[in-house]
Amino acid sequence: MADNKAILKVGDKEIELPILSGTAGHDVIDIRSLGANGYFTYDPGFMATGSCESSITYIDGAKGILLHRGYSIEELARDADYIEVVYMLLHDKTPNTEEYRDFKDTITRHTLVHDQVNNFFRGFRRDAHPMAMLCGTVGAMASFYHDDLNIHDPEQRLRSAYRLVAKMPTLVAMCYKYNIGQPFVYPTNKLSYAENFLNMMFSVPAEDYKITPAVAKAVDRIFILHADHEQNASTSTVRLAGSSGANPYACIAAGVASLWGPAHGGANEACLNMLEEIGTVDRIPEFIARAKDKDDPFRLMGFGHRVYKNFDPRATVMRESCHEVLAELNIDDPLLNVAMELERIALSDPYFAEKKLFPNVDFYSGIILKAIGIPTNMFTCIFALARTVGWVSHWHEMLSQPGQKIGRPRQLYTGEAQRPYTKIEK
Ligand code: SDX
Repeated sequence: MADNKAILKVGDKEIELPILSGTAGHDVIDIRSLGANGYFTYDPGFMATGSCESSITYIDGAKGILLHRGYSIEELARDADYIEVVYMLLHDKTPNTEEYRDFKDTITRHTLVHDQVNNFFRGFRRDAHPMAMLCGTVGAMASFYHDDLNIHDPEQRLRSAYRLVAKMPTLVAMCYKYNIGQPFVYPTNKLSYAENFLNMMFSVPAEDYKITPAVAKAVDRIFILHADHEQNASTSTVRLAGSSGANPYACIAAGVASLWGPAHGGANEACLNMLEEIGTVDRIPEFIARAKDKDDPFRLMGFGHRVYKNFDPRATVMRESCHEVLAELNIDDPLLNVAMELERIALSDPYFAEKKLFPNVDFYSGIILKAIGIPTNMFTCIFALARTVGWVSHWHEMLSQPGQKIGRPRQLYTGEAQRPYTKIEK
Protein backbone atom coordinates (compact mmCIF):
# COMPACT_ATOMS: atom_id res chain seq x y z
CA MET A 1 0.00 0.00 0.00
CA ALA A 2 1.42 3.38 -1.03
CA ASP A 3 2.51 5.75 1.75
CA ASN A 4 1.06 8.99 0.34
CA LYS A 5 -1.33 11.22 2.30
CA ALA A 6 -4.34 13.49 1.90
CA ILE A 7 -4.51 16.75 3.83
CA LEU A 8 -7.97 17.73 5.05
CA LYS A 9 -8.19 21.42 5.93
CA VAL A 10 -11.06 22.10 8.37
CA GLY A 11 -11.13 25.60 9.86
CA ASP A 12 -7.64 26.23 11.21
CA LYS A 13 -6.96 22.47 11.44
CA GLU A 14 -5.05 20.36 8.93
CA ILE A 15 -5.74 16.66 9.31
CA GLU A 16 -3.36 14.22 7.58
CA LEU A 17 -5.12 11.14 6.23
CA PRO A 18 -3.16 8.19 4.80
CA ILE A 19 -3.95 7.14 1.20
CA LEU A 20 -3.88 3.36 0.76
CA SER A 21 -3.45 1.61 -2.60
CA GLY A 22 -4.63 -1.91 -3.45
CA THR A 23 -3.64 -4.26 -6.26
CA ALA A 24 -5.99 -2.46 -8.67
CA GLY A 25 -8.79 0.08 -8.62
CA HIS A 26 -9.33 3.24 -6.60
CA ASP A 27 -6.91 4.27 -3.89
CA VAL A 28 -8.71 4.84 -0.58
CA ILE A 29 -8.37 7.65 1.93
CA ASP A 30 -8.12 6.13 5.40
CA ILE A 31 -10.43 8.32 7.46
CA ARG A 32 -10.36 6.26 10.67
CA SER A 33 -8.63 9.05 12.59
CA LEU A 34 -11.38 11.58 11.77
CA GLY A 35 -13.53 10.59 14.73
CA ALA A 36 -10.78 11.56 17.15
CA ASN A 37 -10.63 14.92 15.34
CA GLY A 38 -14.32 15.52 15.97
CA TYR A 39 -15.69 14.64 12.52
CA PHE A 40 -17.56 11.81 10.80
CA THR A 41 -17.77 11.31 7.03
CA TYR A 42 -21.24 11.40 5.49
CA ASP A 43 -22.09 9.07 2.60
CA PRO A 44 -25.71 7.77 2.52
CA GLY A 45 -25.92 4.80 0.16
CA PHE A 46 -22.13 4.44 0.36
CA MET A 47 -21.57 6.11 -3.02
CA ALA A 48 -17.86 6.59 -2.28
CA THR A 49 -17.14 4.46 0.77
CA GLY A 50 -14.86 1.44 0.99
CA SER A 51 -16.16 -0.66 3.90
CA CYS A 52 -13.36 -3.21 4.06
CA GLU A 53 -10.24 -4.69 2.51
CA SER A 54 -10.93 -7.76 0.39
CA SER A 55 -9.06 -10.01 -2.05
CA ILE A 56 -12.03 -12.00 -3.36
CA THR A 57 -13.54 -9.98 -6.24
CA TYR A 58 -12.46 -6.94 -8.23
CA ILE A 59 -14.82 -4.81 -10.32
CA ASP A 60 -13.79 -2.01 -12.68
CA GLY A 61 -17.05 -0.19 -13.37
CA ALA A 62 -15.65 2.00 -16.15
CA LYS A 63 -14.04 -0.87 -18.08
CA GLY A 64 -16.67 -3.51 -17.35
CA ILE A 65 -14.14 -5.80 -15.66
CA LEU A 66 -15.14 -8.47 -13.11
CA LEU A 67 -12.43 -10.71 -11.61
CA HIS A 68 -12.83 -13.49 -9.06
CA ARG A 69 -9.46 -14.13 -7.37
CA GLY A 70 -7.91 -12.46 -10.43
CA TYR A 71 -9.68 -14.62 -13.03
CA SER A 72 -12.03 -12.84 -15.49
CA ILE A 73 -15.72 -13.70 -15.36
CA GLU A 74 -15.68 -14.32 -19.11
CA GLU A 75 -13.02 -17.06 -18.80
CA LEU A 76 -14.65 -18.61 -15.74
CA ALA A 77 -18.11 -18.68 -17.38
CA ARG A 78 -16.58 -20.26 -20.52
CA ASP A 79 -14.07 -22.73 -19.08
CA ALA A 80 -14.85 -23.44 -15.40
CA ASP A 81 -17.81 -24.92 -13.58
CA TYR A 82 -19.58 -23.54 -10.54
CA ILE A 83 -17.94 -25.93 -8.05
CA GLU A 84 -14.50 -24.78 -9.26
CA VAL A 85 -15.56 -21.14 -8.80
CA VAL A 86 -16.91 -21.95 -5.30
CA TYR A 87 -13.57 -23.54 -4.40
CA MET A 88 -11.53 -20.57 -5.62
CA LEU A 89 -13.77 -17.99 -3.92
CA LEU A 90 -13.43 -19.82 -0.61
CA HIS A 91 -9.79 -20.92 -0.90
CA ASP A 92 -8.11 -18.18 -2.99
CA LYS A 93 -6.74 -20.75 -5.44
CA THR A 94 -8.04 -22.91 -8.26
CA PRO A 95 -8.31 -26.60 -7.32
CA ASN A 96 -6.17 -29.24 -8.99
CA THR A 97 -8.03 -32.32 -10.23
CA GLU A 98 -7.66 -34.15 -6.90
CA GLU A 99 -8.73 -31.11 -4.84
CA TYR A 100 -11.66 -30.59 -7.23
CA ARG A 101 -12.77 -34.20 -6.91
CA ASP A 102 -12.58 -34.17 -3.10
CA PHE A 103 -14.28 -30.78 -2.83
CA LYS A 104 -17.10 -31.77 -5.20
CA ASP A 105 -17.57 -34.92 -3.10
CA THR A 106 -17.67 -32.87 0.12
CA ILE A 107 -20.32 -30.52 -1.24
CA THR A 108 -22.34 -33.43 -2.65
CA ARG A 109 -22.37 -35.17 0.72
CA HIS A 110 -23.76 -32.10 2.51
CA THR A 111 -26.75 -31.49 0.21
CA LEU A 112 -29.27 -33.23 2.47
CA VAL A 113 -31.07 -31.04 5.01
CA HIS A 114 -32.21 -32.30 8.43
CA ASP A 115 -35.56 -34.01 7.94
CA GLN A 116 -37.10 -31.70 10.57
CA VAL A 117 -36.64 -28.84 8.07
CA ASN A 118 -39.56 -30.28 6.13
CA ASN A 119 -41.82 -29.28 9.02
CA PHE A 120 -40.91 -25.59 8.75
CA PHE A 121 -42.58 -25.46 5.36
CA ARG A 122 -45.87 -26.70 6.77
CA GLY A 123 -46.30 -23.36 8.51
CA PHE A 124 -46.22 -21.36 5.29
CA ARG A 125 -49.25 -20.61 3.12
CA ARG A 126 -49.07 -22.66 -0.10
CA ASP A 127 -48.84 -19.43 -2.09
CA ALA A 128 -46.08 -17.94 0.10
CA HIS A 129 -43.42 -16.13 -1.94
CA PRO A 130 -40.43 -18.50 -2.25
CA MET A 131 -38.04 -15.80 -1.01
CA ALA A 132 -40.09 -15.49 2.20
CA MET A 133 -39.81 -19.25 2.70
CA LEU A 134 -36.09 -19.25 1.85
CA CYS A 135 -35.41 -16.44 4.29
CA GLY A 136 -37.24 -18.32 7.03
CA THR A 137 -35.76 -21.75 6.41
CA VAL A 138 -32.16 -20.56 6.02
CA GLY A 139 -32.45 -18.68 9.30
CA ALA A 140 -34.00 -21.77 10.89
CA MET A 141 -30.90 -23.79 9.90
CA ALA A 142 -29.11 -21.87 12.67
CA SER A 143 -31.11 -23.98 15.13
CA PHE A 144 -29.42 -27.13 13.79
CA TYR A 145 -25.87 -25.80 13.68
CA HIS A 146 -25.17 -23.57 16.60
CA ASP A 147 -23.95 -25.27 19.76
CA ASP A 148 -20.77 -26.81 18.32
CA LEU A 149 -19.96 -23.81 16.15
CA ASN A 150 -16.88 -21.73 16.92
CA ILE A 151 -16.81 -19.03 14.21
CA HIS A 152 -13.22 -18.13 15.20
CA ASP A 153 -12.02 -21.55 14.05
CA PRO A 154 -11.35 -21.30 10.28
CA GLU A 155 -12.02 -25.02 9.78
CA GLN A 156 -15.46 -24.67 11.42
CA ARG A 157 -16.18 -21.55 9.36
CA LEU A 158 -15.34 -23.45 6.18
CA ARG A 159 -17.53 -26.37 7.32
CA SER A 160 -20.45 -23.91 7.71
CA ALA A 161 -19.65 -22.47 4.29
CA TYR A 162 -19.67 -25.95 2.67
CA ARG A 163 -22.96 -26.81 4.36
CA LEU A 164 -24.60 -23.58 3.18
CA VAL A 165 -23.39 -23.92 -0.43
CA ALA A 166 -24.48 -27.56 -0.44
CA LYS A 167 -27.90 -27.10 1.14
CA MET A 168 -29.15 -23.97 -0.64
CA PRO A 169 -30.20 -25.84 -3.82
CA THR A 170 -32.12 -28.32 -1.67
CA LEU A 171 -33.92 -25.53 0.23
CA VAL A 172 -34.65 -23.56 -2.96
CA ALA A 173 -36.11 -26.63 -4.65
CA MET A 174 -38.19 -27.33 -1.52
CA CYS A 175 -39.66 -23.79 -1.73
CA TYR A 176 -40.71 -24.50 -5.33
CA LYS A 177 -42.13 -27.95 -4.59
CA TYR A 178 -44.08 -26.56 -1.63
CA ASN A 179 -45.57 -23.82 -3.82
CA ILE A 180 -46.81 -26.33 -6.42
CA GLY A 181 -47.95 -28.97 -3.95
CA GLN A 182 -45.53 -31.66 -5.10
CA PRO A 183 -43.48 -33.83 -2.73
CA PHE A 184 -39.94 -32.72 -1.89
CA VAL A 185 -37.27 -34.51 -3.95
CA TYR A 186 -34.16 -35.62 -2.11
CA PRO A 187 -30.68 -34.80 -3.47
CA THR A 188 -29.08 -37.41 -5.74
CA ASN A 189 -25.33 -37.82 -5.20
CA LYS A 190 -24.56 -39.16 -8.66
CA LEU A 191 -25.57 -35.86 -10.29
CA SER A 192 -23.56 -32.65 -10.67
CA TYR A 193 -24.47 -29.58 -8.60
CA ALA A 194 -26.60 -28.03 -11.36
CA GLU A 195 -28.10 -31.37 -12.47
CA ASN A 196 -29.01 -32.20 -8.88
CA PHE A 197 -30.75 -28.84 -8.51
CA LEU A 198 -32.75 -29.37 -11.71
CA ASN A 199 -33.69 -32.87 -10.59
CA MET A 200 -34.90 -31.65 -7.18
CA MET A 201 -36.90 -28.94 -8.95
CA PHE A 202 -38.52 -30.92 -11.74
CA SER A 203 -38.51 -34.67 -11.07
CA VAL A 204 -41.72 -36.24 -9.77
CA PRO A 205 -42.24 -39.66 -8.16
CA ALA A 206 -44.13 -40.96 -11.18
CA GLU A 207 -41.25 -40.57 -13.61
CA ASP A 208 -37.55 -39.74 -13.83
CA TYR A 209 -36.63 -36.21 -14.90
CA LYS A 210 -34.54 -36.21 -18.10
CA ILE A 211 -31.71 -33.73 -17.72
CA THR A 212 -30.82 -31.79 -20.88
CA PRO A 213 -27.02 -31.19 -20.82
CA ALA A 214 -27.36 -27.75 -22.44
CA VAL A 215 -29.86 -26.72 -19.76
CA ALA A 216 -27.65 -28.02 -16.94
CA LYS A 217 -24.70 -26.13 -18.47
CA ALA A 218 -26.77 -22.93 -18.72
CA VAL A 219 -27.86 -23.26 -15.07
CA ASP A 220 -24.27 -23.86 -13.98
CA ARG A 221 -23.23 -20.76 -15.94
CA ILE A 222 -26.02 -18.70 -14.34
CA PHE A 223 -24.71 -19.80 -10.94
CA ILE A 224 -21.17 -18.71 -11.92
CA LEU A 225 -22.39 -15.31 -13.17
CA HIS A 226 -24.18 -14.63 -9.88
CA ALA A 227 -21.57 -16.10 -7.51
CA ASP A 228 -20.07 -12.93 -6.09
CA HIS A 229 -19.93 -9.23 -6.74
CA GLU A 230 -17.74 -7.39 -4.22
CA GLN A 231 -19.54 -5.30 -1.57
CA ASN A 232 -23.08 -5.23 -3.01
CA ALA A 233 -26.03 -4.60 -0.68
CA SER A 234 -26.64 -8.22 0.34
CA THR A 235 -22.95 -9.03 0.81
CA SER A 236 -22.53 -5.89 2.91
CA THR A 237 -25.56 -7.03 4.93
CA VAL A 238 -23.94 -10.41 5.58
CA ARG A 239 -20.68 -8.73 6.57
CA LEU A 240 -22.43 -6.36 8.99
CA ALA A 241 -24.48 -9.18 10.54
CA GLY A 242 -21.39 -11.38 10.79
CA SER A 243 -19.32 -8.61 12.37
CA SER A 244 -21.29 -9.04 15.62
CA GLY A 245 -20.38 -12.75 15.72
CA ALA A 246 -23.85 -13.92 14.71
CA ASN A 247 -24.48 -17.48 13.55
CA PRO A 248 -23.54 -17.84 9.83
CA TYR A 249 -26.94 -19.25 8.87
CA ALA A 250 -28.59 -16.19 10.43
CA CYS A 251 -26.14 -13.96 8.54
CA ILE A 252 -26.96 -15.65 5.22
CA ALA A 253 -30.69 -15.31 5.99
CA ALA A 254 -30.03 -11.57 6.35
CA GLY A 255 -28.31 -11.64 2.94
CA VAL A 256 -31.33 -13.42 1.42
CA ALA A 257 -33.59 -10.71 2.85
CA SER A 258 -31.48 -7.89 1.42
CA LEU A 259 -31.18 -9.56 -1.99
CA TRP A 260 -34.99 -9.81 -2.28
CA GLY A 261 -35.48 -6.11 -3.01
CA PRO A 262 -36.31 -5.17 -6.66
CA ALA A 263 -33.39 -2.72 -6.71
CA HIS A 264 -31.05 -5.67 -6.09
CA GLY A 265 -31.58 -9.38 -6.67
CA GLY A 266 -35.33 -8.98 -7.02
CA ALA A 267 -34.68 -7.19 -10.32
CA ASN A 268 -34.65 -10.42 -12.35
CA GLU A 269 -38.23 -11.22 -11.27
CA ALA A 270 -39.23 -7.56 -11.75
CA CYS A 271 -37.54 -7.48 -15.16
CA LEU A 272 -39.46 -10.44 -16.52
CA ASN A 273 -42.70 -9.01 -15.10
CA MET A 274 -41.85 -5.75 -16.88
CA LEU A 275 -41.18 -7.55 -20.19
CA GLU A 276 -44.51 -9.34 -19.84
CA GLU A 277 -46.24 -6.03 -19.07
CA ILE A 278 -44.66 -4.47 -22.17
CA GLY A 279 -45.83 -7.57 -24.07
CA THR A 280 -45.04 -6.48 -27.61
CA VAL A 281 -42.29 -4.51 -29.32
CA ASP A 282 -44.64 -1.72 -30.36
CA ARG A 283 -45.31 -0.84 -26.70
CA ILE A 284 -41.62 -0.30 -25.87
CA PRO A 285 -41.60 3.48 -26.59
CA GLU A 286 -44.36 3.97 -23.99
CA PHE A 287 -42.22 2.34 -21.30
CA ILE A 288 -39.06 4.14 -22.40
CA ALA A 289 -40.96 7.41 -21.99
CA ARG A 290 -42.10 6.37 -18.50
CA ALA A 291 -38.53 5.49 -17.53
CA LYS A 292 -37.48 9.03 -18.51
CA ASP A 293 -40.38 10.73 -16.77
CA LYS A 294 -39.13 12.23 -13.49
CA ASP A 295 -42.66 12.13 -12.09
CA ASP A 296 -43.07 8.44 -12.86
CA PRO A 297 -41.38 6.07 -10.37
CA PHE A 298 -41.16 3.43 -13.13
CA ARG A 299 -37.64 2.23 -13.89
CA LEU A 300 -36.45 -0.15 -16.57
CA MET A 301 -35.82 -3.23 -14.45
CA GLY A 302 -32.63 -5.01 -15.43
CA PHE A 303 -31.05 -1.72 -16.44
CA GLY A 304 -28.47 0.40 -14.64
CA HIS A 305 -25.86 -0.37 -12.03
CA ARG A 306 -24.17 1.48 -9.19
CA VAL A 307 -20.69 0.39 -10.29
CA TYR A 308 -20.77 -0.55 -13.98
CA LYS A 309 -20.96 2.64 -16.04
CA ASN A 310 -20.46 1.18 -19.52
CA PHE A 311 -21.60 -2.44 -19.51
CA ASP A 312 -22.05 -5.35 -17.11
CA PRO A 313 -19.76 -8.14 -18.38
CA ARG A 314 -22.10 -10.70 -16.90
CA ALA A 315 -24.98 -9.45 -19.06
CA THR A 316 -22.86 -9.97 -22.17
CA VAL A 317 -22.23 -13.63 -21.25
CA MET A 318 -25.84 -14.08 -20.14
CA ARG A 319 -27.09 -12.74 -23.48
CA GLU A 320 -25.03 -15.33 -25.38
CA SER A 321 -26.34 -18.09 -23.10
CA CYS A 322 -29.86 -16.85 -23.65
CA HIS A 323 -29.59 -17.37 -27.39
CA GLU A 324 -27.91 -20.78 -26.95
CA VAL A 325 -30.59 -22.08 -24.55
CA LEU A 326 -33.52 -20.84 -26.62
CA ALA A 327 -31.97 -22.36 -29.77
CA GLU A 328 -31.25 -25.66 -27.97
CA LEU A 329 -34.79 -25.84 -26.65
CA ASN A 330 -36.15 -24.61 -29.95
CA ILE A 331 -38.07 -21.85 -28.19
CA ASP A 332 -39.03 -18.69 -29.99
CA ASP A 333 -39.96 -16.59 -26.95
CA PRO A 334 -41.54 -13.26 -27.97
CA LEU A 335 -40.20 -11.86 -24.69
CA LEU A 336 -36.67 -12.34 -26.00
CA ASN A 337 -37.62 -10.26 -29.03
CA VAL A 338 -39.04 -7.60 -26.70
CA ALA A 339 -35.86 -7.74 -24.58
CA MET A 340 -33.54 -7.45 -27.59
CA GLU A 341 -35.54 -4.53 -29.04
CA LEU A 342 -35.73 -2.83 -25.62
CA GLU A 343 -31.95 -3.17 -25.29
CA ARG A 344 -31.41 -1.82 -28.82
CA ILE A 345 -33.71 1.17 -28.31
CA ALA A 346 -32.41 1.98 -24.81
CA LEU A 347 -28.77 1.79 -25.89
CA SER A 348 -29.40 4.11 -28.85
CA ASP A 349 -31.30 6.65 -26.72
CA PRO A 350 -29.14 9.59 -25.53
CA TYR A 351 -30.97 9.65 -22.19
CA PHE A 352 -29.77 6.17 -21.26
CA ALA A 353 -26.28 6.83 -22.56
CA GLU A 354 -26.11 10.01 -20.47
CA LYS A 355 -27.41 8.21 -17.37
CA LYS A 356 -25.10 5.27 -18.18
CA LEU A 357 -27.99 2.83 -18.18
CA PHE A 358 -27.60 -0.51 -19.96
CA PRO A 359 -28.61 -4.11 -19.28
CA ASN A 360 -27.22 -5.59 -16.06
CA VAL A 361 -26.88 -9.21 -14.95
CA ASP A 362 -30.62 -9.44 -14.26
CA PHE A 363 -31.79 -8.44 -17.71
CA TYR A 364 -31.30 -11.72 -19.58
CA SER A 365 -31.21 -14.24 -16.74
CA GLY A 366 -35.00 -14.16 -16.39
CA ILE A 367 -35.53 -15.16 -20.01
CA ILE A 368 -33.25 -18.19 -19.66
CA LEU A 369 -34.85 -19.23 -16.38
CA LYS A 370 -38.32 -18.90 -17.89
CA ALA A 371 -37.23 -20.98 -20.90
CA ILE A 372 -36.04 -23.71 -18.50
CA GLY A 373 -39.48 -23.74 -16.88
CA ILE A 374 -38.62 -21.93 -13.66
CA PRO A 375 -41.49 -19.64 -12.56
CA THR A 376 -40.78 -15.91 -12.27
CA ASN A 377 -41.25 -15.81 -8.51
CA MET A 378 -38.39 -18.31 -8.15
CA PHE A 379 -35.80 -16.19 -9.98
CA THR A 380 -34.43 -14.38 -6.95
CA CYS A 381 -34.15 -17.68 -5.07
CA ILE A 382 -31.86 -18.88 -7.88
CA PHE A 383 -29.82 -15.69 -7.44
CA ALA A 384 -29.63 -16.33 -3.66
CA LEU A 385 -28.58 -19.94 -4.27
CA ALA A 386 -25.73 -18.81 -6.52
CA ARG A 387 -24.69 -15.85 -4.35
CA THR A 388 -24.43 -17.91 -1.15
CA VAL A 389 -20.79 -18.71 -1.96
CA GLY A 390 -20.05 -14.98 -2.29
CA TRP A 391 -21.74 -14.24 1.01
CA VAL A 392 -19.94 -16.98 2.93
CA SER A 393 -16.60 -16.16 1.29
CA HIS A 394 -16.81 -12.56 2.49
CA TRP A 395 -18.03 -13.68 5.93
CA HIS A 396 -15.09 -16.11 6.19
CA GLU A 397 -12.60 -13.48 4.93
CA MET A 398 -13.87 -10.85 7.37
CA LEU A 399 -13.56 -13.17 10.39
CA SER A 400 -10.09 -14.28 9.31
CA GLN A 401 -8.77 -10.71 9.27
CA PRO A 402 -6.87 -9.68 12.42
CA GLY A 403 -8.46 -6.94 14.51
CA GLN A 404 -11.90 -7.50 12.96
CA LYS A 405 -14.38 -5.09 14.61
CA ILE A 406 -18.17 -4.94 14.81
CA GLY A 407 -19.57 -2.67 12.09
CA ARG A 408 -21.06 0.41 13.72
CA PRO A 409 -21.64 3.44 11.39
CA ARG A 410 -22.46 6.88 12.85
CA GLN A 411 -24.88 9.55 11.52
CA LEU A 412 -25.66 13.21 10.92
CA TYR A 413 -28.25 13.95 13.62
CA THR A 414 -30.94 16.41 12.53
CA GLY A 415 -33.52 15.75 15.24
CA GLU A 416 -34.56 17.97 18.17
CA ALA A 417 -31.96 19.52 20.48
CA GLN A 418 -32.35 18.38 24.10
CA ARG A 419 -35.61 19.66 25.59
CA PRO A 420 -37.42 19.08 28.95
CA TYR A 421 -39.94 16.26 29.15
CA THR A 422 -43.39 17.13 30.52
CA LYS A 423 -45.27 14.31 32.28
CA ILE A 424 -48.35 13.15 30.41
CA GLU A 425 -50.69 14.17 33.26
CA LYS A 426 -49.43 17.72 32.90
C1 SDX B 1 -27.92 -6.10 -8.89
O1 SDX B 1 -24.33 -3.84 -6.38
C2 SDX B 1 -24.27 -4.88 -7.10
O2 SDX B 1 -23.23 -5.34 -7.49
C3 SDX B 1 -25.61 -5.53 -7.40
C4 SDX B 1 -25.57 -6.73 -8.33
C5 SDX B 1 -24.87 -7.90 -7.70
O3 SDX B 1 -24.40 -8.77 -8.46
O4 SDX B 1 -24.87 -8.01 -6.45
O5 SDX B 1 -24.91 -6.37 -9.52
C6 SDX B 1 -26.96 -7.21 -8.68
O6 SDX B 1 -28.56 -5.69 -7.97
C7 SDX B 1 -28.01 -5.47 -10.27
C8 SDX B 1 -28.99 -4.25 -10.30
C9 SDX B 1 -30.43 -4.82 -10.41
N1 SDX B 1 -31.40 -3.70 -10.23
C10 SDX B 1 -32.17 -3.30 -11.25
O7 SDX B 1 -32.04 -3.68 -12.41
C11 SDX B 1 -33.26 -2.30 -10.84
C12 SDX B 1 -33.26 -1.11 -11.79
N2 SDX B 1 -31.99 -0.36 -11.59
C13 SDX B 1 -32.02 0.73 -10.67
O8 SDX B 1 -32.91 0.70 -9.64
C14 SDX B 1 -30.65 1.34 -10.43
O9 SDX B 1 -30.03 1.44 -11.63
C15 SDX B 1 -29.73 0.67 -9.44
C16 SDX B 1 -30.38 0.44 -8.13
C17 SDX B 1 -29.23 -0.62 -9.98
C18 SDX B 1 -28.51 1.60 -9.23
O10 SDX B 1 -29.00 2.74 -8.65
P1 SDX B 1 -28.01 3.96 -8.22
O11 SDX B 1 -26.60 3.63 -8.50
O12 SDX B 1 -28.35 4.38 -6.84
O13 SDX B 1 -28.39 5.07 -9.26
P2 SDX B 1 -29.60 6.05 -9.11
O14 SDX B 1 -30.80 5.31 -8.60
O15 SDX B 1 -29.12 7.22 -8.33
O16 SDX B 1 -29.88 6.44 -10.63
C19 SDX B 1 -29.07 7.42 -11.26
C20 SDX B 1 -29.98 8.06 -12.28
C21 SDX B 1 -31.31 8.54 -11.68
O17 SDX B 1 -31.75 9.63 -12.45
P3 SDX B 1 -31.48 11.15 -11.83
O18 SDX B 1 -32.08 11.17 -10.44
O19 SDX B 1 -29.98 11.30 -11.80
O20 SDX B 1 -32.19 12.06 -12.80
O21 SDX B 1 -30.36 7.09 -13.29
C22 SDX B 1 -31.76 6.87 -13.25
C23 SDX B 1 -32.27 7.40 -11.92
O22 SDX B 1 -33.61 7.83 -12.04
N3 SDX B 1 -31.94 5.42 -13.30
C24 SDX B 1 -32.86 4.81 -14.05
C25 SDX B 1 -32.64 3.44 -13.83
N4 SDX B 1 -31.62 3.26 -12.98
C26 SDX B 1 -31.19 4.50 -12.65
N5 SDX B 1 -33.84 5.29 -14.86
C27 SDX B 1 -34.59 4.35 -15.47
N6 SDX B 1 -34.45 2.99 -15.32
C28 SDX B 1 -33.47 2.52 -14.51
N7 SDX B 1 -33.31 1.20 -14.37
